[in-house]
Amino acid sequence: MPSRPRAGGGARPGVGGGAPSVYFDNAATSNPKPPQVLEAMEHYMKKVCASPGRGGYRWSLDAGRIVYQARAKVRELFNAPALESVAFTMNVTYALNCAIQGLVRPGDHVVTTSVEHNSVIRPLRFMQEAYGIQVTVVQCDGRGMLDPDDVRRAMRPETRTVVMTHASNVVGSVLPVAEVGRVAQEFGAFFIVDTAQTAGVLDIDFAAIGADVLAFTGHKSLMGPPGTGGFVVSSRAAGEMRPLVHGGTGSRSHLETQPEDLPDKFESGTMNTVGIAGLAAGIEFVLSTGLERICEHERSLARRFVDGVREIGGFKLYGPEAPGQRVATVSVGSERGADLANLAYRLDAEYGVMVRSGLHCSPLAHRTIGTFPEGTLRFSFGYFNTEDEVDYAVRALAALATTDM
Ligand SMILES: Cc1ncc(COP(=O)(O)O)c(C=O)c1O
Repeated sequence: MPSRPRAGGGARPGVGGGAPSVYFDNAATSNPKPPQVLEAMEHYMKKVCASPGRGGYRWSLDAGRIVYQARAKVRELFNAPALESVAFTMNVTYALNCAIQGLVRPGDHVVTTSVEHNSVIRPLRFMQEAYGIQVTVVQCDGRGMLDPDDVRRAMRPETRTVVMTHASNVVGSVLPVAEVGRVAQEFGAFFIVDTAQTAGVLDIDFAAIGADVLAFTGHKSLMGPPGTGGFVVSSRAAGEMRPLVHGGTGSRSHLETQPEDLPDKFESGTMNTVGIAGLAAGIEFVLSTGLERICEHERSLARRFVDGVREIGGFKLYGPEAPGQRVATVSVGSERGADLANLAYRLDAEYGVMVRSGLHCSPLAHRTIGTFPEGTLRFSFGYFNTEDEVDYAVRALAALATTDM
């Protein structure tokens, strides 16, 4: 029996004094959240807890101010054109569905990439079946990298929309969104960007990447709670984009039809104000910490992990080599054909290291890197992870590699 590696000072103690808790699934959702996020949510629940935009009394106005401040934070983070261009949704999946189903029309041609999350590919496949849209999936290379010239070659005169992720949630490859944005603009197509894996890590400027819809999720690197997300929409897209959901907005209540005013057009129903309060605090944390600092720390952890795994041998590593071409999500495979689900289970059960195995909701990405259908073991590092935790996980992997997995 190999000796159990010990976590360094960074790992959180395990329940009942057992194995420490080392969380490396930040690509799914970030953990822990900064204390300010919890405080903002507690403040809302205890001191406000009213519907924003639904009344003229103090608590409703307080709730409205909280949402306003959150919009301002999103605007600052992405350099959004206006406060009204920011709409909140419950996650990026919802935001992407709003954009895709709201902009794409029957018979349209849409261009996307081969590393998309199901949040992009499923609405497209749905629209293909239901409305006869045509979809071209541009092939990324085996590291998950995209050549913008391949996107250009896929464009047709009738291409109405290009939709793509900013970074792969399987291998962490960062895709050239600004270059693709220029291609989309040349062809007069709408450009939808999924920033699930980059918002809060990379500097993203809405206009500079040529986005029409920048979809974000709140609970990953923006440090907010689950149930938060949204999008920034350009004025040209906002006019054409149909709302996915129609209903009460607290505005123009005399109308029986959805108002065209932004962001109300896209925000029907009582909002997740407690979540939005937390999201605003999360974004404030990101802005005050600094994107560069966050990114550098996470990339250095990923680099350390990759070097460590390479040293122990027996594992395949996927994704781009250059640290500047990736975010801190690393996919690992076994050279000896070990069962990755079992490996993930044992990492958690025996060492307290929490990672994810499988397809990570992105079968296309796995076909692209050659790991379909078995998938990979995904380690995704966050701002609160430490070098000690990385070293511990590498030692745990090394110990498991010597057993009969
Ligand atoms: C690239 C990408 N897009 C979309 C999603 C969906 O995120 P959410 O569950 O927050 O909607 C994820 C998260 O797993 C992702 O990594």
